[in-house]
Amino acid sequence: MADATVIVNKKRSGSSDEQWDQIAGAKKQLLNKAGHVEDPAAALANVRHEFGEHGGVNMSIEASATFTVMEPETMGRMFSGELGPDRDFFIYSRHFNPTVLNLGRLMAALEGTEAAYCTASGMSAISSVLLQLCSTGGHIVASNTLYGGTHALLTHFFPRACGITTSFVDIRDLEVVRREVVEGKTKVLYFESMSNPTLTVGNVPELCRIAHDKGVTVVVDNTFAPMVVSPARLGADVVVHSISKYISGGADIIAGAVCGPASLVNSMMDLHQGSLMLLGPTMNPKVAFELSERLPHLGLRMKEHCNRALVYATRMKKLGLKVVYPGLEDHPDHTLIKSIANKDYGYGGILCLDMETEERASRLMNLLQNCTQFGLMAVSLGYYETLMSCSGSSTSSEMNEEEKQLAGISPGLIRMSIGYTGTLEQKWTQFEKALTRMQQDKTAPISI
Ligand SMILES: Cc1ncc(COP(=O)(O)O)c(C=O)c1O
Repeated sequence: MADATVIVNKKRSGSSDEQWDQIAGAKKQLLNKAGHVEDPAAALANVRHEFGEHGGVNMSIEASATFTVMEPETMGRMFSGELGPDRDFFIYSRHFNPTVLNLGRLMAALEGTEAAYCTASGMSAISSVLLQLCSTGGHIVASNTLYGGTHALLTHFFPRACGITTSFVDIRDLEVVRREVVEGKTKVLYFESMSNPTLTVGNVPELCRIAHDKGVTVVVDNTFAPMVVSPARLGADVVVHSISKYISGGADIIAGAVCGPASLVNSMMDLHQGSLMLLGPTMNPKVAFELSERLPHLGLRMKEHCNRALVYATRMKKLGLKVVYPGLEDHPDHTLIKSIANKDYGYGGILCLDMETEERASRLMNLLQNCTQFGLMAVSLGYYETLMSCSGSSTSSEMNEEEKQLAGISPGLIRMSIGYTGTLEQKWTQFEKALTRMQQDKTAPISI
C-alpha cells in the first residue's frame, strides 16, 4: 500500500509523452500570458499559482537534491536534454529544482522576460551571465557608475581570470556609447537601471537601440528599481537582480536572479557549457520558497519606499541640503525616469545626501542612528528600516579616487535606502532633530 501511494504520487508515472506535451503546452501559454502584461504587479498575479502537495495555499518546498525516475531509460533522455523541467523531469538540484524554478517564473513575470533562474547571490547572477555571454578575450562596454563589486569584477577579476576587458563610459553620453560599442568586438552593453550610488538613470530604450544596431546584448542590473523600471519591457535582453535588496526586503537573505530569454537560461544550465550548471551558484529551495512568499507584496513595499523617499528628498531640498533623487525636478534624469517608469510606483526608494566631507557625513549618520533612531548605519538597501552608508568608503571603496570622481561619488555622499517603519512624520521629526543638533554643535564630539 505504501509503495503504491508513492508511485501514484509520482506525477510522471504512467503519463504518455502526448499527455506531457499537453501539460507543457498549457504551462507555456500561462508563461507567455504573464510575459506580455505591462504592469509588473499584474504580470505577477497572472503567474500559475503553485499549491502545496496537500492542498496548501502555499506551494510545497521541493527540498530534494536528487530526483528518481520510473524507468531506467528516462535518465538517458533527461541527460540528453530530451526531457526537462518544462515536462516536470528533474535531474539534480544544482541543475533545475522545482521550487527554485517557481521563483524563477515569478521573477520572469516581474521583469517581463521569457524565463528566469535564481542564484545564490546578485554577484553570481552577474558573473554567470557575463561569462555565458562573453568568451576569453571578449569585450564589454559598461557604465562608469556601477556597484563597486561589479566594477571590481569588470576592472580586475575578468581581465586577470579570462581576458574579458571592459570599456567604461558615461552612459548619459549616447555618442560616446555609440563610439565605444564596436560591432563584432563588443559582446555586452552593461549598466544599472538606476546606478549605485549616484542614481543615474539608464536611458534603456536608446541604449538598447545603439547596442542592438551593432548586434550587442544588453544586460541591465535592476536591483535599485524593481517594479519602478522594467528594463526588458523597454528593450533590454537580460535583467539581473541582487534579490538580497528590495525583492527580499528583510535584509536576511543573499540571492540573485538572471531574467532573460529561455534560450539563454537553458544555455546557462547546459551540462557541458553552462555557467550556472558548472560554476554552481545554486539557490537553496528553502530560500526560494521564502522569497516566493515575499514577491506578492513587493509592489506595495516599493510604493511606500518610493513615496517616503520623494517626500523626504523634497523636504531635505527645501532645508537647503544637497540631495540627489531622480524624483526631484532638478535631477538631470527626472524627465527620463518619468518617461520610462511604470505608472504609480514612484521614482525609487533611494536618495543621496551630499554632505561634502566624510567627516560631516559620519557626524550626521551617527546622530541619525544613535541619537534620533532615524535609521541604521549599514550597507545594503531595500530593508524596511532606513539604511545609511557613506558610499565612497564602503560599497564603492573598490573604485580608486579618479574612478569615484568620474562616477560622481563625493567623499561625503550618504546613500539612504528609505524604510517604511513608523509613520512618515515620526521619522521626519527624527531626521530634523539630528540635523538641528548637527548644525548647533558643529565641532564638539558627538555624545550618545
Ligand atoms: C546594484 C547592485 N548589484 C549587485 C549587487 C550584488 O548583489 P549581492 O550582494 O546579492 O551579491 C549589489 C550589492 O550591493 C548591488 O547594489
